[in-house]
Amino acid sequence: MRKKYICGNWKMNKTPDEALVFAREINEKNLDDVDILIAAPFVDLDILKKNLNKNIKVAAQNVSEYSDGAYTGEISTTMLKSMEISDVIIGHSERREIYLEDDTTINNKVIHAIGEGLDVILCVGESLKTRENEEHFFHVKNQILEGLSNVEDIDKVTIAYEPIWAIGTGNTCSPEDAEKMCENIRNTIRERYKDAADKIRILYGGSVKPDNAAEILSKDDIDGVLVGGASLKVDDFVKIINYKENL
Ligand code: 13P
Repeated sequence: MRKKYICGNWKMNKTPDEALVFAREINEKNLDDVDILIAAPFVDLDILKKNLNKNIKVAAQNVSEYSDGAYTGEISTTMLKSMEISDVIIGHSERREIYLEDDTTINNKVIHAIGEGLDVILCVGESLKTRENEEHFFHVKNQILEGLSNVEDIDKVTIAYEPIWAIGTGNTCSPEDAEKMCENIRNTIRERYKDAADKIRILYGGSVKPDNAAEILSKDDIDGVLVGGASLKVDDFVKIINYKENL
């Protein structure tokens, strides 16, 4: 049985002071027995790591594919590990679309991060045009195969399916369509990694809110959620963590 995984992605929001306020507030809440993670801006990682209760993991939103050197603006796996950060999001659609990270770069980052002992949340998802052209299954399968090319240690990987047209738009993918894609992703993993497909966690992301989380999380092949906007407010995020109260 895969334990549900509730992940927040703060994107470029919250100063360290604001992150501290969030940590103090959520530490006081009763949280269900699910796995919880917050992916925060680099400048917030240290304060969150030091102040959040230990049942909430702290992740980076990106990492360099290089070890060290002349890469202005980048952050290395060594730097993350020095802050005891052991999780990182790679290949978020905003990195792909705005910063033009392609599947090769993303694959290099995944290989490097796993090689350095980090756990990776690999994001995939199609644009509206790709879905309208009914190429979304093919597109996402390709992103998975290319993102995981030469990756052996699949136990270090979580997949997040985030259809681009559902991110920050209020347009959630229907739970049925999200489930169908997550099932397809699991089948793709099974083709290459056999029984590990039963263990890997596949998350859905895109306009997840307190009022739709329970329905999304009740689907068999959806093992968790990656939440943007609604992870910024403690009360909303806690409602998503405690989604079982709405079942
Ligand atoms: P929203 O929940 O704001 O749509 O963002 C989803 C997302 O991109 C999480 O990584």
